[in-house]
Amino acid sequence: MAVEAPPRQLTDFLRSLRAVRDFQRKPLSDDVVQDILEVARWSGSASNRQFVEIIVIRKRETLQALAGLGGYVGHLRGAALGMLLVAPGEWPEGETFDEGRAAERIMLGAWAHGVGSSIGWFSPEGRKEAKRLLGVPAKPVVRTAISLGYPASPPRRGSRKPITELVHEERYRA
Ligand SMILES: Cc1cc2nc3c(=O)[nH]c(=O)nc-3n(C[C@H](O)[C@H](O)[C@H](O)COP(=O)(O)O)c2cc1C
Repeated sequence: MAVEAPPRQLTDFLRSLRAVRDFQRKPLSDDVVQDILEVARWSGSASNRQFVEIIVIRKRETLQALAGLGGYVGHLRGAALGMLLVAPGEWPEGETFDEGRAAERIMLGAWAHGVGSSIGWFSPEGRKEAKRLLGVPAKPVVRTAISLGYPASPPRRGSRKPITELVHEERYRA
């Protein structure tokens, strides 16, 4: 199903996604959260195995506790809501790739509603503690947290390499 919107408008939207780590306290409505989760549900995965599960965290005390764990997840502290991704822990390469796809989908789905977000990774110790806190069994991997909320300030304009440093035509040139 093609979306009826000018292509440039759609690609401008995709290009505008930035990490947001500063949030208003304003909560996300259930409708918005469900819509973001639906976008995530339709994420592609290797052999359509749909590895990634999502834990939605709304409780402030849980967000605070997670924000204090090892890694780079301090932005969960001020988030209106957090989503933690759970992968089965059976095929690291494939699951990590699909986790990235799902994370980007969550961020884009959120941004479509004006909700900012940032990915954060737990350290190995933080992963264990996050699992303990959330009742996740030993085998699955909890590595990625996504903080969500309406931006408190305009997102930083992070820079990118010029396209000439990124793209190779026909053959790789070092
Ligand atoms: C695999 C991965 C791990 C990341 N881990 C963190 C993290 O631990 N903490 C954090 O604040 N941001 C994290 N980020 C977000 C990046 O810092 C962000 O995408 C990058 O700085 C570009 O930001 P911009 O889009 O706002 O320019 C991660 C992003 C990815 C893809």
